Amino acid sequence: MDRIRIRGGNRLSGAIPISGAKNATLPLMIASLLTDETLVLQNVPRLADVVLLQHILANHGVDITLAGKRPGDPEGNGQTLRLSARRIVDTTAPYHLVSKMRASFWVIGPLVARMGEARVSMPGGCAIGTRPVDFHLDALRALGATIDIEEGYVLASANGGLRGGRIRFDKVSVGATHTALMSAALARGESEIENAAREPEIVDVADCLKKMGAIIEGAGTSTIRVQGVERLNAANHTVLPDRIETGTYAMAVAMTGGDVMLQGARADLLQSALDVLQEAGAEVFETNEGIRISRNGTKLAPVRVTTEPFPGFPTDLQAQLMALMSRADGTSQITETIFENRFMHVQELARLGARISLDGEVAKIEGVERLKGAPVMATDLRASVSLVIAGLAAEGETMVHRVYHLDRGFERLEEKLSRCGAEIERVAG
Ligand code: EPZ
Repeated sequence: MDRIRIRGGNRLSGAIPISGAKNATLPLMIASLLTDETLVLQNVPRLADVVLLQHILANHGVDITLAGKRPGDPEGNGQTLRLSARRIVDTTAPYHLVSKMRASFWVIGPLVARMGEARVSMPGGCAIGTRPVDFHLDALRALGATIDIEEGYVLASANGGLRGGRIRFDKVSVGATHTALMSAALARGESEIENAAREPEIVDVADCLKKMGAIIEGAGTSTIRVQGVERLNAANHTVLPDRIETGTYAMAVAMTGGDVMLQGARADLLQSALDVLQEAGAEVFETNEGIRISRNGTKLAPVRVTTEPFPGFPTDLQAQLMALMSRADGTSQITETIFENRFMHVQELARLGARISLDGEVAKIEGVERLKGAPVMATDLRASVSLVIAGLAAEGETMVHRVYHLDRGFERLEEKLSRCGAEIERVAG
């Protein structure tokens, strides 16, 4: 298994191109199931999760082609995927595929909306919490589907198709909002989704669905209204920039000091995180090219942060902020309200010398003068990148094991960081 070796202590300077958002790409690819025409997605990141979802969709009958490089294409440009679900030949998403990636459960909405039936494996456990699928199922029931659970599979059926309905979520859920939105797009009549997630990735998917002919109002607010249509068409859509990748590199620069342009990044997608970085002492500049981030000389100030649904501070940047605060001049507090078990990086950060104590959902981070390199183990995607951030500032060598977690969500991480002066390399095997 590959590892990543980091020799800490270098400042970062230069430019990092920000890739297309993983968490928009996955539901956008799934949206291809809603139409028998071709959906073209541009700026798709090269990630293990994208490849895995291609296999899952191919199993349902989706033809997928990847456009080759064109003359004049800037290096590191995103990929273009063409997805054609002309005929769905299989409405089952089997355990061995769904268990590898939770988001693949989301095929359930489009399958039942278009085919009147879906048989999708329950996703099962996951490193960052229990993450049930009850909200997804409630949404489908509200649109007239019958749900049964048999042998670990959810069987959803709607003979004669889904019909519009009122869906109200007790808690904000990104995935269940995607399910509701995609299903309602093909349901007969009008649907209303209340307490919907307002994440930028929901807006991106809604924008793409609208290009496909869906009638949607209010995406990006807590109430989304959808007027179902009989069929959806071909469309061409460019994936929005990854706000979590942006925030991660911004924190890396704040950690090491230096000056980096995050090319193509959009500040409106992560204002809460940028505010926290400024409070901690980093400088943030919005420019036409992207977001420039710098920290020179100043010590990091401690912060108090609570993770919240958008537009609050994202849970997907919690581990990275914790790594950053491990070197602040004072004690920080981070409260995790989205997932009950998203603190597995704490023990690993401690191996590098971080002083963190946990009390339920609250972590107290007492800043230390220096971190020291050590072998560490990645446990999930965002946790692993927090170890990279800590390693960039630690004295000596940090070896991050189980790098496959990183490959799920960060495109060419070592290359992007080493071009800015970091000493970081992948060690094969
Ligand atoms: C999405 O997961 C993201 N995944 C996650 O990113 C992200 O951490 C999360 O949203 C929160 O922002 C993708 O977009 C592919 P939720 P999702 O449903 O949709 C509870 C990453 O690192 N819940 O918004 O699965 C759930 O347990 C990943 O890129 C139910 O109780 O998250 C959690 O406490 C990790 N019942 C809360 O809601 C349900 O049916 C929010 O989860 C569904 C969710």
